[in-house]
Amino acid sequence: MDTNTPRKIEHQQTDRGYVPVYATGVVEQPWSDYSRTDHEVWDTLYKRQRELLPGRACREFLAGVERFGLGDGGIPKFSDLNQVLGKATGWELVAVEGLLPDEVFFDHLANRRFPVSWWIRKPDQLDYLSEPDLFHDLFGHVPLLLNPIFADYMQAYGRGGMKAFGIGPEALMNLTRLYWYTVEFGLINTDEGLRIYGAGIVSSKGESIYCLDSPAPNRIGFGLERVMNTRYRIDTYQQTYFVIDSFEQLFEATRPDFTPLYASLKQASAHAAAEVLDKDRVFNRGTREGFASNADA
Ligand code: PHE
Ligand code: FE
Repeated sequence: MDTNTPRKIEHQQTDRGYVPVYATGVVEQPWSDYSRTDHEVWDTLYKRQRELLPGRACREFLAGVERFGLGDGGIPKFSDLNQVLGKATGWELVAVEGLLPDEVFFDHLANRRFPVSWWIRKPDQLDYLSEPDLFHDLFGHVPLLLNPIFADYMQAYGRGGMKAFGIGPEALMNLTRLYWYTVEFGLINTDEGLRIYGAGIVSSKGESIYCLDSPAPNRIGFGLERVMNTRYRIDTYQQTYFVIDSFEQLFEATRPDFTPLYASLKQASAHAAAEVLDKDRVFNRGTREGFASNADA
């Protein structure tokens, strides 16, 4: 699929009236439609995370937040951020209404476009949301796109996604687990200790604390096959976090062709989210306190 030039396919009725929807799911960021409350929600969430994350998030993430000026006040304009991002790593943010079909999402990543939901949560949803909104997508994912290695990893992931999509649903599930345990919920080992780089964590106050401070979850060294064969939780904080040593390690580990790996994983049975294996490099073995027993995704 070539989606470099978005094709307008139809006008769709939304609560903003009729808006053009492209085959790529891309819309204009309706910046002037944001209410005062929307801007306040952004400011509140930004301030909360900005105070919490020093000493918790990795320095590459924090540097990205500053460089974009995400806290300059109110919801950022994607066009402003794109000036910075394009020069730095050649990525571009595109506004979308929400989650995209897998192959459309992969195609964006493979072309260094990052889809960001344009809408923001309501004031009574500051702590939990079941779908990704602007704050998660933008504050969580975008700062690391300024890091050249992480930026390349995301593109490689998109290309790998197109390939897995062609192989079949099991391959896609294996690849989704990799995304989950790295891009969304990854930890990184630094000289100062474990730090957060996953977007699902940095955009959540509760999990930003829990993932590092709680004795309940496991913290285990990253292994490609290990991660791709481990189920995950979508309804609670994670039961296991996987720790990379560096973005280079992540990029190199995922460089080989996954085709044989998909084939061998098809024969293997998946590990439960909370499981610790003998061969694991364990940073912390979790106490499992408060874990539900059988609801992995
Ligand atoms: N190397 C993977 C493959 O061949 C592609 C990939 C790269 C997937 C990086 C995820 C992350 O399928
Ligand atoms: Fe996300």
